[in-house]
Amino acid sequence: MVLASGTGSLFASILEHASRPDASFTVVGAVVDRDCAAVGIADAAGIPVIRCRLKDHPDRAAWDAALAADVANMSPEWVVTAGFMKILGPAFLNRFGGTIVNSHPALLPAFPGAHGVADALAYGVKITGTTVHLVDDGVDTGPILAQRIVEVRPDDTEASLHERIKIVERALLPEVVDALAARGVVTDGRKAHLK
Ligand code: GRF
Repeated sequence: MVLASGTGSLFASILEHASRPDASFTVVGAVVDRDCAAVGIADAAGIPVIRCRLKDHPDRAAWDAALAADVANMSPEWVVTAGFMKILGPAFLNRFGGTIVNSHPALLPAFPGAHGVADALAYGVKITGTTVHLVDDGVDTGPILAQRIVEVRPDDTEASLHERIKIVERALLPEVVDALAARGVVTDGRKAHLK
């Protein structure tokens, strides 16, 4: 299942991959934390979508528990955060830890957090990219599953660079989810390797 908040282009790339005859996974549902384009994408694909908004709950802990319950109802093997703009809390991590996959628009461990593209650009790096990793209780600190590079151009803005990174994310994230579904992952201390 997929958690999303944004324009949903990563979510759409996962659905597109799942529709291929040789795909190793199906998408059982989506949960969003706000009204966003991902809802329309799920509806158009006939995928069940649930809204779990922070403002509908008394506090963050209650929202986190409700999110965990919504996702548990879908009985997913893997939870993919595709542009989900909230930090997952303890209730969610206790339930799904080790099975949550995130795509980050920078080469971790450099430039974690919500402003990875802007931070990389401001630092002046010449190469950045995307990282697919397992989610732990830190911000973008979980074991890395795959990375791909994107060159920074001298005239890049945050928007132009992010758009080129997202093209790569839309290829890499579904590939990694497919590999996880087909063959799984081996962990070795803080390291993880796709089988
Ligand atoms: C991606 O760059 C993802 O890594 C980041 O937000 C973006 C999501 O894009 N967390 P979209 O909403 O799927 O188009």
